[in-house]
Amino acid sequence: MTTTTASQEILLEIKNVNKNFGGLQAIDDVTLDLPAGVITTLVGPNGAGKTTLFNLITGHLMPTSGTIHWLGKSLKGVEPWQVARLGIARTFQDLRLYSQMTVEENIMTVMERSSWLWQSGREAAEQRVTEILNETKLLDKRHDRAVDLAYAERKFLSLARIMASEAKLWLLDEPASGLDPRSFERFVTLLRTYAKRGITICIIEHNLDIVIQLSDRVAFLDQGKLLAQGSSEDILKDPHLAAIYFGERA
Ligand SMILES: Nc1ncnc2c1ncn2[C@@H]1O[C@H](COP(=O)(O)OP(=O)(O)OP(=O)(O)O)[C@@H](O)[C@H]1O
Ligand SMILES: [Mg+2]
Repeated sequence: MTTTTASQEILLEIKNVNKNFGGLQAIDDVTLDLPAGVITTLVGPNGAGKTTLFNLITGHLMPTSGTIHWLGKSLKGVEPWQVARLGIARTFQDLRLYSQMTVEENIMTVMERSSWLWQSGREAAEQRVTEILNETKLLDKRHDRAVDLAYAERKFLSLARIMASEAKLWLLDEPASGLDPRSFERFVTLLRTYAKRGITICIIEHNLDIVIQLSDRVAFLDQGKLLAQGSSEDILKDPHLAAIYFGERA
């Protein structure tokens, strides 16, 4: 279990952020830090504002008010492609793969956008792709089109694309939903390995087994508000939060 201490570098700092869609307050005064090397899980019922929070970080949406800083610099007005260049990568609930491209091409397109390829050369990049294919168990599918993959394989391809980026922070939107138990285990091991290598991870997750197995810290959102943050034991044991999560709101 990793605990947040004053000495830990804060990569991302979300301060008093609000987001309104017309009359709906999707994010309500959220303040949250993502410290380096910590796996944070965002949990909360459907419509809590989890994906909206990711969209605000990545520049797909602009906050109505409040600030978001990355490595001490404001992300105000920074476009999604620039946010990616700064070292924040994300996956989407609907995956957004290049469906007609092969598995390998889907990964190479990420590498082609990074300085890695230019610095290390094509051969090293190809080796790195092979390593990623191995880690995600997609090696024998490397020439298959993304559209022809099974669901779990598409999820791993989405993860493989993030692995090929040089991002320091991974924002994963329900990456494990619909995985079978074996894929699920591989997924947990993979994320733990990358966290140990220094990647900071924030995951939106509904599967409480994954929340328990992966989280160093859980942040609980409901109706746009950050209701609590703490260890998975503290958050999942709280009867008030459980009632909200399972829809037994008074
Ligand atoms: N672009 C948008 N325009 C208008 N309303 C939006 C938009 N995006 C999200 N919302 C609304 O904001 C609220 C939060 O949505 P969000 O997608 O962030 O929830 P979530 O916590 O990710 O839910 P889920 O677990 O179902 O994915 C919802 O009421 C949703 O309908
Ligand atoms: Mg969502």
